Amino acid sequence: MSAQGHDVAWRTACVATWEAVHDCQSSRVQGMKDTSRGHPEDDIPMLRNRMVDELIVSNRIRSSHLAAAFRTVPRHIFLPDADPTSAYRDEAIVTKWAADGRPVSSSSQPAVMAAMLEQLDAQTGQSVLEVGAGTGYNAALLAQLVGASGAVTTIDIDEDLVEQARRNLRAAGADGISVVHADGAEGWPRAAPFDRIILTAAAWDLAPAWLEQLADGGRLVLPLSLRGVQRSVALERVSNYMASVSIVGCGFMPLRGSFAGPDPVRPLGDEPGLFLELDDERPLNLVALSAALEHLGDEMATSVTVTPAEIMGGLGLWLALHDSDAGRLITLGEGLNRRLVPAVVAFPGMALTPVLVGDQALAALIRLNPAAAGTDAFEVGVRTYGPDGDDLADRLVAHVREWEAAGRPSTTGLRIRAYPAAESCSGPFTALIDKYHTRLLLDWQPPATGPGSGPTHC
Ligand SMILES: C[S@@+](CC[C@H](N)C(=O)[O-])C[C@H]1O[C@@H](n2cnc3c(N)ncnc32)[C@H](O)[C@@H]1O
Repeated sequence: MSAQGHDVAWRTACVATWEAVHDCQSSRVQGMKDTSRGHPEDDIPMLRNRMVDELIVSNRIRSSHLAAAFRTVPRHIFLPDADPTSAYRDEAIVTKWAADGRPVSSSSQPAVMAAMLEQLDAQTGQSVLEVGAGTGYNAALLAQLVGASGAVTTIDIDEDLVEQARRNLRAAGADGISVVHADGAEGWPRAAPFDRIILTAAAWDLAPAWLEQLADGGRLVLPLSLRGVQRSVALERVSNYMASVSIVGCGFMPLRGSFAGPDPVRPLGDEPGLFLELDDERPLNLVALSAALEHLGDEMATSVTVTPAEIMGGLGLWLALHDSDAGRLITLGEGLNRRLVPAVVAFPGMALTPVLVGDQALAALIRLNPAAAGTDAFEVGVRTYGPDGDDLADRLVAHVREWEAAGRPSTTGLRIRAYPAAESCSGPFTALIDKYHTRLLLDWQPPATGPGSGPTHC
């Protein structure tokens, strides 16, 4: 795997789609140290409060105690190499790269952190485990949420990051947080059970240790790969399975170590800048698939109009759940100039093209007619690449039309039930995804449906 491929996978994953969340009131509390490092002292709280105000307006922060935690914890202290103005932008900031150029640690985007902390719903006095200490910033927020009567343990797989988190926490005056150097796949049995467990790196599967170390009535929040599409899932135990109580869009760098999942991104062809993302380990004829891009087949219309946001939030998820051959072409840098594949969803320096992948052919979504002026909607079509792609194209058109007929489902109303891998399950459900330890059942429910409601099928 090339460094660039990993980088792209990470950046792709950072393209999050978001759920509507509720309004909340802000509140202010006094607290941690606030050093300005050359900026007028007054500017730092102003920058921080402005970031929090924006997170409230955008509904990422909904509860007053989370707003208070964000107002209290000085993010810039956890990012000593960043300018405070950058530290208080709603952006992820990479803090460590691997030797091959992959980003391996960051302070996550505050909006993502807020959404996940809302999902976690940590309460005063609770015991929390975080897997992925990074800078220590999220651990400091967690410590604010559980208060002096609670306990926070945070783990990182890299010793230098553990040292960094400890340093940052000390500098911020955040006491009493246990920062541990370990592989988070094993949890931290010495401090178990935990009322709350949160991962800040993306998991491919649920590690048995996390479920064993979760207290009765506890909640696990983690970014989970659903055939390459990431969602942050809050899970609670219901009899013999874990049921989602909340799911939101997210994008995280993958968990490393003993519980790392398959590497989904493969370079396509010799020239840089084009990658195929498919979330399993099947052997692919990348030479034939690369050659297929030179064989343009017919365009097919779908009569379905979409926006890029609907592709990221809804149609992409639908394809992943309905077709195990669903993947994405990722183009970046120089690859964008070659225009070998259509840029269906474009970001600065990067484009995504949802595809179905065959042995020697691909079927790709394309942009057909733009919709009304002033919108970013367009009619989505399908194009075949390669000699034998007609069946793939028919399937892709059918998926698009079925998504439309189903009311364009997105993350809203998605339900995930996670059973032990060996469990035998029967429908109805939308998708069954087998992991190493877990069998995931996914379907769409009315939004009011809570954990454990509806029939159990395993
Ligand atoms: C997005 S960063 C976490 C950000 C952090 N929570 C913060 O507030 O700065 C993801 C972190 O997960 C860590 N990580 C990756 N795999 C891990 C594993 N198996 N166990 C523990 N930490 C892991 C990485 O080293 C990285 O620091």
